[in-house]
Amino acid sequence: MIVRSLKIRNFRNYENAEICLNPGLNVITGHNAQGKTNLLESLVYLSLTRSHRISDDRKLIHEGSDFADIRCEYEDDRIQTIRAIIHPKGKTLMVRGQPVRKSSEFIGLLNVVLFAPDDLRIFNDQPRERRRVMNQEITKVSGKYLLALNHYQNLLKERNILLKSANTDMRYLDILDEQMAREEYRIVFERNKFIRQIQSIMPALYRDISSDDITVNVRYRCCVEDPENVSEDKLLEMHRQNREKDLENRMTSAGIHREDILFELEGKNLITLASQGQKRMTMLAFKMALLRYIQNETGKRPVLLLDDVLSELDLTRQKKLLDMVKAPYQCIITSTELPEYLNRNEIAEYFVGEGTVTPVSGGM
Ligand SMILES: Nc1ncnc2c1ncn2[C@@H]1O[C@H](COP(=O)(O)OP(=O)(O)OP(=O)(O)O)[C@@H](O)[C@H]1O
Ligand SMILES: [Mg+2]
Repeated sequence: MIVRSLKIRNFRNYENAEICLNPGLNVITGHNAQGKTNLLESLVYLSLTRSHRISDDRKLIHEGSDFADIRCEYEDDRIQTIRAIIHPKGKTLMVRGQPVRKSSEFIGLLNVVLFAPDDLRIFNDQPRERRRVMNQEITKVSGKYLLALNHYQNLLKERNILLKSANTDMRYLDILDEQMAREEYRIVFERNKFIRQIQSIMPALYRDISSDDITVNVRYRCCVEDPENVSEDKLLEMHRQNREKDLENRMTSAGIHREDILFELEGKNLITLASQGQKRMTMLAFKMALLRYIQNETGKRPVLLLDDVLSELDLTRQKKLLDMVKAPYQCIITSTELPEYLNRNEIAEYFVGEGTVTPVSGGM
């Protein structure tokens, strides 16, 4: 898919800005703190209905304004317009001018994959953050996954309340376990499919980007031993086996809420082994694998957003990365300077300063 234009009002440091984008490589340049990341963030918001930087939407509204408004026209099979209006008390999501009631009907329309320097944090973060990344990516390709996840989370809350109650109703616990196992089956199935696809391409992508002859990959730490052969019965069995422990500890010890996705270098945890550069390239390989996963599952190419990533790579790897992505994907890159090796005839350049965006060359 191709983002053709983006209009933002009262979003972050922008009062009113509009940008028409090129189908290929778009480079947004500007000094620090001028609004480069904010521009990408507005596209992320349309993709996920949340920011990648903060969870409190109110901070996205331009200081002193009542609401923020992000509109985008993109093209996949046809031209679509989507819009998010962010109020202090919530948001309104619109497709072709009509409000949609559920986020699950909106997420997955415009798919972007963002790589920002801060992403490296997830190697060291708690499993919850890595699960969040996995959930976010699968949600882009499956609305049913999001529904299963939300339902599971409600059931889990209920189960934990029940375990904490003075007289646990065992029949109700049976019912909850059965319902949870049903949702977990769908979730494990989708997570396993996700990880299997990433695993099959990530090592080669890493070698391509890095020219490093080592193997990096991801591993699924699933709540059942063999995710390939998961069934509702096996998940139910897991909850039954843990029941005594759960009653004693008054919380649900096993389930998809405890799973993790591990990043490994030569089969070992990457955190202590990899250099900073290797971590960066691992994350890049992961993001490239995400592009392919989304494309496989939806039949549409997502848009790649690279926030301030080039300056952190050496020149050879910068060029390698751009060669790998610029033909198949629409790419929006931010950088304080326009890299000299780029052919100005092949790109569109925009300059961002104090909340305004100005096309410099190639922009439409
Ligand atoms: N709600 C808001 N209202 C007004 N201005 C805001 C709001 N939120 C953030 N800003 C401003 O946006 C600017 C930061 O924008 P952004 O993060 O996009 O910068 P950048 O161009 O990516 O910079 P860098 O090169 O340092 O990454 C800051 O000046 C900040 O004060
Ligand atoms: Mg920035």
